[in-house]
Amino acid sequence: MVVYRRLLSISARYWAVFVAVAVAAATFAATDAGFAYMMTILTEIVGAGDDLDERQALIKEWLPLGILLLFIVRGLGNFLSSFGMGWIARTTIKELRRRVFERYLVLPTRFFNQRSSGQLLSKITYDVGQVASSASTVVITLIKDSLTIVFLVGYMLYLSFQLSLFVFIIAPMIAGIVRYLGVLFRRHNKKIQESMGNITRITQEALEAHKIVKIFGGRSYESERFNAINERNRRMELRLLTATSAGDGINMLVSAFGIAGVIYLISQIDLEVSRVMGFITAMVLLMSPLKRLTNINASIQRGVAAGESLFRVIDEEAERDTGTENPERIEGRVEFRNVSFSYSGTNVSVLNDINLVVEPGETLAIVGRSGSGKSTLVSLLPRFYDIDSGQILIDGLSVDEYSLEGLRRHISLVSQEVTLFNDTVEANIAYGGLAGASTEEIRQAVLSANAEEFVAALPDGLATMVGDRGVLLSGGQRQRLSIARALLKDSPILILDEATSALDTESERHIQAALEQLMQNRTTFVIAHRLSTIENADRIIVMEEGRIVESGKHEDLLATAGHYAALHRMQFSDDDARQTG
Ligand SMILES: Nc1ncnc2c1ncn2[C@@H]1O[C@H](COP(=O)(O)OP(=O)(O)OP(=O)(O)O)[C@@H](O)[C@H]1O
Ligand SMILES: [Mg+2]
Repeated sequence: MVVYRRLLSISARYWAVFVAVAVAAATFAATDAGFAYMMTILTEIVGAGDDLDERQALIKEWLPLGILLLFIVRGLGNFLSSFGMGWIARTTIKELRRRVFERYLVLPTRFFNQRSSGQLLSKITYDVGQVASSASTVVITLIKDSLTIVFLVGYMLYLSFQLSLFVFIIAPMIAGIVRYLGVLFRRHNKKIQESMGNITRITQEALEAHKIVKIFGGRSYESERFNAINERNRRMELRLLTATSAGDGINMLVSAFGIAGVIYLISQIDLEVSRVMGFITAMVLLMSPLKRLTNINASIQRGVAAGESLFRVIDEEAERDTGTENPERIEGRVEFRNVSFSYSGTNVSVLNDINLVVEPGETLAIVGRSGSGKSTLVSLLPRFYDIDSGQILIDGLSVDEYSLEGLRRHISLVSQEVTLFNDTVEANIAYGGLAGASTEEIRQAVLSANAEEFVAALPDGLATMVGDRGVLLSGGQRQRLSIARALLKDSPILILDEATSALDTESERHIQAALEQLMQNRTTFVIAHRLSTIENADRIIVMEEGRIVESGKHEDLLATAGHYAALHRMQFSDDDARQTG
């Protein structure tokens, strides 16, 4: 019940609403017993025929109004308790969502590598809803129904102790059945949630990759995959349904035995008709709250399963952020000392004993075959991953000694995969910490990124929406916006990972000029496949299987006739081929 305790701790601050809900629910509960009482009286009066005493005459006059009042009170109690509980549930949903989302923002990169975004999405949509609806059902049932039961049972005991005793023999039987069903529910709910996550994941993949699906004839593959998981979900739901409805049936059967027994017992003992009437009314009224109370297990299990899944995320450890250094300005001297790294979950070493010093203002170009570890190397600087051994120093301090914020505010990145937000061009450039930038600064960044021409041609210029992940822009346009964003940040360390790969030679040359100017007084890491973009770097390192195999200036490296010279030769023969072809 840890899950429930934690949920309660979230909603505990709404205790005042809870109290109101409890009062309303108790009022509601009392009306059931009240109704049974009125039935007793009614029978009594009807039985008395015309010779009513004074009290009975008075009651007869007021009974219709009494019943009306009773139901008004009942309706009010019902409304207030349901609404109050719904309010708490919606507020708790909002709070839970916020907590999960906030956690997503601080979780380490490796967390996202290990999970599909579909599953993470379904936690925020499906699981949160499950938790809240189950918790509110449980609370409302616990208060309203159990109180109703208490009142009704009390009244039944008052009417006939013997009969009541008999009725209560059924209760443990029902409890036993319920316990058994609860075990079934718990198992199914976990599976249903998993299959729901898979449905989201597969749909999301198909939506995001819709072009690939179309061109590579993935339709039947995708629909088969989807149908399989969809069917699995149906089967799980059906199993749960079987358990629930069988549970209902069994409960009803047990109740029927009870009623038959009661009727038999009534015929045996001598009981006033009015009392019998009241008793049976109470017993009938007892049934549905009792049923809900026995079904409560399903709700509890549903909530617990979803809650566990949520709290697992909330408890997931955030990025380690124990450093305290947060300098206003840094020089930008970067040093890798015997750095080795492998992605968690694998023991393939992606970087091997890297030693590298980059002086402030130096431009370092990193070349090497695809998969040689270039992106990995630069992703260690902003501490997207923690290294296994060795040290990475910035201005002589280990990156661990900086706070994450203190470290990252000095690093600008144009990554291999451009990520734009479904917002305006302007908001994408002046993103996050850059939100305070003036329009003039943004214009300057756009200009330097050689983006002013296409931005001006957009329907609303800087205020144009770029669409989901920037789909309304071309690849090269997206890349230029992401360069503009990096330029605007104006940080002492700049990482350009294939920053110009989507651009034509002409645009690249334009940006190249701007970038070169930009690189002047900052430490820059440039990764590029097109060697022409890196010939002017202060130094070039060549990577091969996670090691630095060559290092030097363009001319020197060409002269040594090693890896770089080979890459360069290939590049030129490619260009030749392109020109002649
Ligand atoms: N998130 C990850 N989890 C596990 N392994 C990874 C991950 N990212 C990359 N790798 C592996 O690490 C190695 C280096 O990848 P990296 O992205 O650094 O290469 P790269 O030099 O940037 O290649 P490219 O030129 O194609 O961008 C590859 O073998 C890759 O399979
Ligand atoms: Mg890469």
